[in-house]
Amino acid sequence: MSHLVAPSMLSADFTRLDREIAMINQSEADWFHLDVMDGVFVPNISFGMPIIQAIKKLATKPLDVHLMIVQPERYIKTFKEAGADILTIHYEASTHLHRSIQEIKEQGMKAGVVLNPHTSIQSLNEIIGILDVVLVMSVNPGFGGQQFIEQTYSKITRLKQLIAKTGSKALIEVDGGVTLDNKSTLLAAGADVLVAGNTVFKSKNPTETIHLLKQ
Ligand code: DX5
Ligand code: ZN
Repeated sequence: MSHLVAPSMLSADFTRLDREIAMINQSEADWFHLDVMDGVFVPNISFGMPIIQAIKKLATKPLDVHLMIVQPERYIKTFKEAGADILTIHYEASTHLHRSIQEIKEQGMKAGVVLNPHTSIQSLNEIIGILDVVLVMSVNPGFGGQQFIEQTYSKITRLKQLIAKTGSKALIEVDGGVTLDNKSTLLAAGADVLVAGNTVFKSKNPTETIHLLKQ
């Protein structure tokens, strides 16, 4: 499978959301990456259901919703109804992670776990078999435009080994500080999905940048 690219709408121009969505629709991007922050799990607040519902009306590609919220299990059905196709929840925010992943799947979405930079790959040993996605944070979550953490390369490699060893079908998604300079190293390490916010939306030609990320 060739790798996927998921532009993060956190860096989009919210006064021009319809145009930004049309650009992604017409580009080679695969998913819309949507960052939901509650100001508790992370020190920032982004957007919630009304924005996701609005994007869903215009988007022609799957919505990959990354929940940076405490007790994400409270909102699984609500995000399904808002339009999420892939729902990822943080390991660090989930007491009953196995149950929550099952519920996401029962709601008909792809289910993923997100690991903060300090959380070990071994934390996934008992659950990797039922995951569709593992989202590896390559920055501390909460903001776009942060510096990539170099340790992420070896973390991805070790995750790839765990996936191979267990026969898991999980995709490895990487989020934070992804650029045209580090994307090849990330893909070589084993990444399947590249999330990119600033790299796409702060570039002169976002469509062309997405094309370059896809190569
Ligand atoms: C950070 C978010 C990211 C963010 C990435 O907490 O999860 O998705 O938008 O932005 P860049 O690509 O600019 O680091
Ligand atoms: Zn994200």
